[in-house]
Amino acid sequence: MNTSEITKEQEVFTMPRIGDKAPQFNAITTQGEINFPDDYKGEWSILFSHPADFTPVCTSEFMTFAHLEEKFKKANCNLIGLSIDGLYSHIAWLRTIKDKITFNGMEKIEVKFPLIEDISMNVAKKYGMIQPGESKTQAVRAVFFVDPVGIVRAIIYYPLSLGRNFDELYRALIAMQTSDKFNVATPADWNPGDDVIISPAGSCGVAQDRMNQTEELKCDDWFFCTKKLDKELVLSEILKK
Ligand code: BEZ
Repeated sequence: MNTSEITKEQEVFTMPRIGDKAPQFNAITTQGEINFPDDYKGEWSILFSHPADFTPVCTSEFMTFAHLEEKFKKANCNLIGLSIDGLYSHIAWLRTIKDKITFNGMEKIEVKFPLIEDISMNVAKKYGMIQPGESKTQAVRAVFFVDPVGIVRAIIYYPLSLGRNFDELYRALIAMQTSDKFNVATPADWNPGDDVIISPAGSCGVAQDRMNQTEELKCDDWFFCTKKLDKELVLSEILKK
């Protein structure tokens, strides 16, 4: 199909997929103009959307993100928020959060990472953040993990009513960085210090060789090999000093 045949309704559903180059955009944010993903080359980014300013679940999420910003920065990761609101709404909402809102023991929280104004829905449409079955005017809670070379590495979507799990966002980031650094995969519920997965050998012979190895590999069968990966080693390779 040629692009001129794409209807308005289909355009709304456009979204990048895992492994795609993150769609480029320029945007105005609470921290000035940004050119994504180029401005963030060499670092990871979490580009996330929320439905609207001055709403409670979004407020709790922003406070949590802001509280954790340094932790993400130490893992070489920038946070970039977005909603279909204007800049003045963003500024007023973030000021109110700082002045008045307490949540989970957090107070006087200052949001220092950029929050994109996207009244035109330009970015939200490029990233499939508008899901009309859920809302035609508000972005769902989308999370795009973009790596240092601008590739989309993971995508998580939540509906409007469900606040994100920040332990999982951080875990996913560290797990992907660990996979890149150590050429391993990470099993269910993996956290630093847990055993990692060695990709299937591809042939029984190779697997058999592996099973005979005295190396630290543990192969229960040809397709299921794990090895220990020291937590301190993972963290020292990934986290900035
Ligand atoms: C909220 O952030 O609280 C929210 C936003 C849109 C719909 C439902 C809840």
